[in-house]
Amino acid sequence: MNLSVQLGRLKLKNPVTVASGTYGYGEEFSELVDLNQLGGIAVKGLTLKPRKGNPPQRIVETPSGMLNSIGLQNVGVDTFIEKKIPFLKKFDTQVIANINGVSDEEYEELAKRLEPIQEVAALEINLSCPNVKEGGIHFGSKPDKIYEVTSRVRKAFSRGVLTKLSPNVTDIVPMAEAVEAAGADGISMVNTLVGMAIDVERRQPVLKSITGGLSGPAIKPIALRMVYEVHSKLDIPILGMGGIATVEDALEFLMAGATAISIGTANFYNPLTPLKILDGLKKYMEKFNFKKISEITGSLKVNQ
Ligand SMILES: Cc1cc2nc3c(=O)[nH]c(=O)nc-3n(C[C@H](O)[C@H](O)[C@H](O)COP(=O)(O)O)c2cc1C
Repeated sequence: MNLSVQLGRLKLKNPVTVASGTYGYGEEFSELVDLNQLGGIAVKGLTLKPRKGNPPQRIVETPSGMLNSIGLQNVGVDTFIEKKIPFLKKFDTQVIANINGVSDEEYEELAKRLEPIQEVAALEINLSCPNVKEGGIHFGSKPDKIYEVTSRVRKAFSRGVLTKLSPNVTDIVPMAEAVEAAGADGISMVNTLVGMAIDVERRQPVLKSITGGLSGPAIKPIALRMVYEVHSKLDIPILGMGGIATVEDALEFLMAGATAISIGTANFYNPLTPLKILDGLKKYMEKFNFKKISEITGSLKVNQ
């Protein structure tokens, strides 16, 4: 049974990865889970300088999902290289560094600093950050900005480049086209949807930042639809995510067109979810006689 998958230059021994911001730097989960079993680990979003993140309250549980406004709390790229890479390099899994800038130049600088670090198999460009230079608009909703940032990172980094798209757009396809045109190896999709919760006793937003990112099962049908739309139009490989918690969820994403999948929010309530899903995928392949996991990608039958 061949579980390996290829997203351009990025090869994963199996299609099960964990999503950025939900797995720390791997260390946090290593006592509970054998990291060697994972296809890849996307680490917490990195910025040039360390960040404390947003003030609390920054997490709210909602029906079938969660809202967060962590605000990119992280150790900064240099401490990541110095302190976190030595731990991660002990494991047989691909390290995906999620990068976050406030300008094109910052994304490029992050890519340059990570280029010599061979243990980083791929960069994942998170485009959901406010572009401070341009008055707080999100990079992720402008195809020309997506193209520019992805092209710069592509030129500065020789291994895998994945661009992570925001679902907070009316049409995801032009965003994906910009990523493909810029020469990325794949698209990670999707990030969180903007949401809100109100404390009716206090008549105040629950989150200090008022709005936050919605993740978990609540967003799965939207994420799945977006993966399907992009895969129907483009050839670029997709790392699919958004509410995956069971093997059926993972299979749905693969059938809709994802080459690999990522588990996020589910790690918080069951850290064994990725391993359970990997096991379930093997059983499914046996049952339906698939020799390669890649045969499942895009295998959805649509009769129209
Ligand atoms: C607490 C939390 C922190 C996150 N931090 C990041 C981040 O730093 N960078 C990023 O690209 N995505 C981040 N995400 C988004 C996830 O990687 C993922 O795209 C999203 O949660 C959808 O998947 P899920 O529904 O399985 O959680 C974060 C999500 C959560 C819940």
